[in-house]
Amino acid sequence: MGHFAQALGDAGRTATQRIATSLEGTTGPIRDAMIYATEGGKGLRGFLVIESARLHGIAPQDAAPAAAAIETLHAYSLVHDDLPCMDDDDLRRGRPTVHRKWDEATAVLAGDALQTLAFELVAQTVCPDAARIKLITTLAQASGVRGMVGGQALDIAAETADVPLTLEQIITLQAGKTGALIEWAATAGPHMAQADAAPLGQYARALGLAFQIADDILDVEGDVATVGKAVGKDASAGKATFVSLLGLEGAKQRAHDLVNTACEVLAPYGTDADTLREAAQFVVARKS
Ligand code: IPE
Ligand code: IPE
Ligand code: MG
Ligand code: MG
Ligand code: MG
Repeated sequence: MGHFAQALGDAGRTATQRIATSLEGTTGPIRDAMIYATEGGKGLRGFLVIESARLHGIAPQDAAPAAAAIETLHAYSLVHDDLPCMDDDDLRRGRPTVHRKWDEATAVLAGDALQTLAFELVAQTVCPDAARIKLITTLAQASGVRGMVGGQALDIAAETADVPLTLEQIITLQAGKTGALIEWAATAGPHMAQADAAPLGQYARALGLAFQIADDILDVEGDVATVGKAVGKDASAGKATFVSLLGLEGAKQRAHDLVNTACEVLAPYGTDADTLREAAQFVVARKS
């Protein structure tokens, strides 16, 4: 492992610290549930913010609010995703889900408050005003009906669809559900620097798709103790996934091809982007 493991760890600590600072002076179960929900993740999205910023000469402390914002937004999406009316899961990151540790009302409200906190945080990013407005607007779009929420709605609908979704439909669903937040994270750096975001946009689309394929593979091949969340749920829900459509080997091959694409499109950055290339390898090799 090269520089990536260290960079992922550093980015995680940076985001976690920033979230804790932003909640200073608050007390009570909602605040406790918010902190709980932001702990224990891989921190990949925050890392993508910090690393894409570094690639554009922006210091980690200037990008830290944006990194904390995307991890907070992502944590909210997971708290709501786990609710009984959604995926009804009891385990997340190896611990009870927020509605199991507290109750459903706390989980709904903690998720709501994490979402608004994400916008408070992103507005504190250190960059020109126009760039900050771009970050805020694109985060709203990536999170909402055009992005994560839209993808989540398609995902829930897919569980009860009469005909299983086609590969093309699954790719559209994924681009919203998982892809939009990952793309926002990887393009945050060029947006802060008001630079061309196209190469990192291409990188993120390949990475996001590979990421979701790996998630679907882990649902089949992973064990609950390592993955830290329930496995075997997609098949038991009769859901079309990359694995059900491509087969296990086909899905692995597709993920591998996407990693190669993700690495190649970073050519304009040369070896400066090697940590992001390592991140792409990590996304498909990960066991949790
Ligand atoms: C899980 O995301 C949800 C999906 C989008 C598939 P991660 O695998 O990044 O979750 P954490 O943050 O590391 O727990
Ligand atoms: C949820 O996708 C992704 C979001 C929360 C946006 P999944 O339902 O597949 O995620 P896991 O498997 O519960 O982490
Ligand atoms: Mg779900
Ligand atoms: Mg889920
Ligand atoms: Mg999943």
